[in-house]
Amino acid sequence: MAIPHFTERDPLAPGFWDERFAQHFMPWDQGGVPPELARFMARSPAPLTTLIPGCGMGYEVRHLAQAGWPVTAIDFSPTAVEAAKAALGEFAGHVQQADFFSFVPAQAIGFIYERAFLCAMPRARWADVIAQWAALLAPGALLGGFFFYDGAPKGPPFGADRAALDALMQPHFVLIDEAPAEQSIAVFAGKEIWQVWQRR
Ligand SMILES: C[S@@+](CC[C@H](N)C(=O)[O-])C[C@H]1O[C@@H](n2cnc3c(N)ncnc32)[C@H](O)[C@@H]1O
Repeated sequence: MAIPHFTERDPLAPGFWDERFAQHFMPWDQGGVPPELARFMARSPAPLTTLIPGCGMGYEVRHLAQAGWPVTAIDFSPTAVEAAKAALGEFAGHVQQADFFSFVPAQAIGFIYERAFLCAMPRARWADVIAQWAALLAPGALLGGFFFYDGAPKGPPFGADRAALDALMQPHFVLIDEAPAEQSIAVFAGKEIWQVWQRR
């Protein structure tokens, strides 16, 4: 498939993502709900109030909401939000346009779901992402999802170095579960790990 022409090169700008959603160029898009999330939900003793930062098409929203999990999905790209709302139909109300770094939740969050959001950011922004995750979660609350480990200097996706990511995460979180991703799409294949971190 030919790569479309884009004018915005900065992934920290909503316009970068707007352009890609508008042209349906979404190589990160899994098109569904990963089995690890479904299993995590099935094992949870109770529904957790969930936040999905940088939700993109937000496939997980329907699955969470149908299972009775209170879920809010945010994205700062108006085009992504419009596309997610259109696709989610009756569940569109769970999606809102917001910048993760200034987002203030209406209720306490028990679970943040991570997929292709951290790796959408240049690494220089990661400490801020992790600080905001930590600020949004009370002690004991959970952050779970997929972490992309790769050393390529250019992105997105920007991959993590294990020791460097641990050094950023461990002051705020304890790793309580991990396993290689079962169904990675091509762009993340072999380099994606499901992890669950608990807020200290
Ligand atoms: C690589 S996409 C991943 C989308 C989705 N999580 C998925 O797995 O398909 C990254 C998403 O994060 C959004 N995003 C990037 N920075 C953001 C920010 N500061 N606040 C909210 N959304 C942001 C982008 O608009 C884009 O939809």
